[in-house]
Amino acid sequence: MLHSLTYVSLATQADPDLLERQAHEIAAASSVRNRQDGLTGALAVGGGWFAQVLEGPAGILLATFDRLLRDRRHTDIRVIEFVPTVTRGFAGWSMACSGKMPPGLIAEAAAAYAAREAAGLCSTAVHGQSLCRAMLARIAPAEESLASLRVRVG
Ligand SMILES: Cc1cc2nc3c(=O)[nH]c(=O)nc-3n(C[C@H](O)[C@H](O)[C@H](O)COP(=O)(O)O)c2cc1C
Repeated sequence: MLHSLTYVSLATQADPDLLERQAHEIAAASSVRNRQDGLTGALAVGGGWFAQVLEGPAGILLATFDRLLRDRRHTDIRVIEFVPTVTRGFAGWSMACSGKMPPGLIAEAAAAYAAREAAGLCSTAVHGQSLCRAMLARIAPAEESLASLRVRVG
């Protein structure tokens, strides 16, 4: 069944500009493999953190996540949301790059994860949904302008 996984992780690259460039490189390389695997999603950075949404069949999604866990470009990986879903939020993007986001949003999700671990009381689902919406908003305009270009050209 289709699942959606949202996580945040601490980037090991400390320089914000190099990190943003690295995110674009990771997204470009990942999109090739994800297309073969039937995965979609988006990647963003902010305040030294990565945020990523990955969508697809649970088995291949978790196999990919297992590889991600061992990647030295990030550490302190925190799963914000892992849920079954009927539709893909990022259909059409085998791995979009949402670039640099306002850091507060990712930091809040990371802090909510820490609170959940410590107290076991609160949920991070709302943070997962805010991250998804913010990441989608940062890639949608580009896709819209491509669509309008196609209309004009076609
Ligand atoms: C933040 C981050 C996001 C990544 N996203 C993906 C992804 O969506 N799909 C993917 O195949 N690899 C992704 N990777 C790369 C994997 O960690 C791994 O390097 C790659 O899949 C190659 O694995 P392999 O050398 O074991 O074949 C990501 C890495 C990082 C640091």
